[in-house]
Amino acid sequence: MVVLSRFDCRGINQQNWNPVLNRIHPAAFSALQARRIFPQDERLLASRANQNVEQILRNHDKSFYRGRRPEAAMNNTIESLSNSRTVRGGMAATILDGSKMAAEIRAELAAEVKVLAASGVRPGLAVVLVGHDPASEVYVRGKVKSSQEVGIYSEKHTPPESATTQELLELIADLNRRDEIHGILVQLPLPRHVDAKKILLAVDPAKDVDGFHPMNVGFLSTQRPGLVPCTPAGVMEILKRSAIPVAGQEAVVVGRSDIVGKPIAMLLLNANATVTVCHSKTRNLPGVCRRADILVAAIGRAGMITRDYVKPGATVIDVGMNQVTDRAEFDRLFAGNKKREEIFLTKGATLVGDVHPEVGEVAGAITPVPGGVGPLTIAMLMANTVKAAKIRSQK
Ligand code: GUN
Repeated sequence: MVVLSRFDCRGINQQNWNPVLNRIHPAAFSALQARRIFPQDERLLASRANQNVEQILRNHDKSFYRGRRPEAAMNNTIESLSNSRTVRGGMAATILDGSKMAAEIRAELAAEVKVLAASGVRPGLAVVLVGHDPASEVYVRGKVKSSQEVGIYSEKHTPPESATTQELLELIADLNRRDEIHGILVQLPLPRHVDAKKILLAVDPAKDVDGFHPMNVGFLSTQRPGLVPCTPAGVMEILKRSAIPVAGQEAVVVGRSDIVGKPIAMLLLNANATVTVCHSKTRNLPGVCRRADILVAAIGRAGMITRDYVKPGATVIDVGMNQVTDRAEFDRLFAGNKKREEIFLTKGATLVGDVHPEVGEVAGAITPVPGGVGPLTIAMLMANTVKAAKIRSQK
């Protein structure tokens, strides 16, 4: 174990950040080289020179890679680490590019779909969208488009807002019966008069590509194979593809919803992280969050996680998707950000996660919004549909 002296760290902190022109402080370089962390990529090391070196060493412990990580994961890490950016003049976190990872997953799935097609199986997905919730319409459009790209057959069912629980149960029963449909997704939220729990319980667990059925929830919590909720699965995929270690790490999940917070906590626990789940009654929330090596924000409150919640060098996963329409709120989050201001002024709104943009100055790695967890959610829906089709075709 290399232990850096105070002097070494001071030297590192004095580095100006510039991934191309500035070379890393010699003390940091030799310490990192001694651990054989990407010795070939000096540029990468320079780009991280201002960060908490202990955290880098922990995150890139070479024992983690020994014989376990595919080349692709390593390449992703090198590339994303080299893509660091400056935020308000400070040192910036590595951006974990969800759009790029989702494109990779779609390409991998398209290849699998071709193999399945050769054996006469075409994965099929049915999406049920009740009524005309504008956000749901956008999500469903994305899901259908992504299916087409991957080669999955998809069909959209659009019962009216007035549809009853009984009518929806009949639709689900029909989809459960059909052999060419391998995945069923009922877009949430459902209208208030519909018994959503009853609807989700009616979906055949083998076709439950959302992973919301209590049977799949039980499989996840008892580490049995099953269908895992898409957003949580996407979060784990980001960590895996960025070669961010999970086992033995302190993970803090803010938010305890059934569809995001709880399953993310379970997946992190199954991957041997030490997991804390926080909620509205948690005392000293910033203090608890500051313990996290991996901090997952899934609260649904724009920019709530400020820099005070984040340990320097931590990995921050932002699951939030909030529309900011209020000028004062915009200024709290994006003052001085010209590009965002342009979007805000043109559209009257801008999308922001649960994490304040200033966190980019302290975190070691962070998912952007948009372009972070969101694209992975849809990619994992495709992955679940292909998985369900494969399992069914093997029966
Ligand atoms: N509404 C918002 N997110 C989701 C999701 O992941 N699945 C479904 N079915 N509805 C949603």
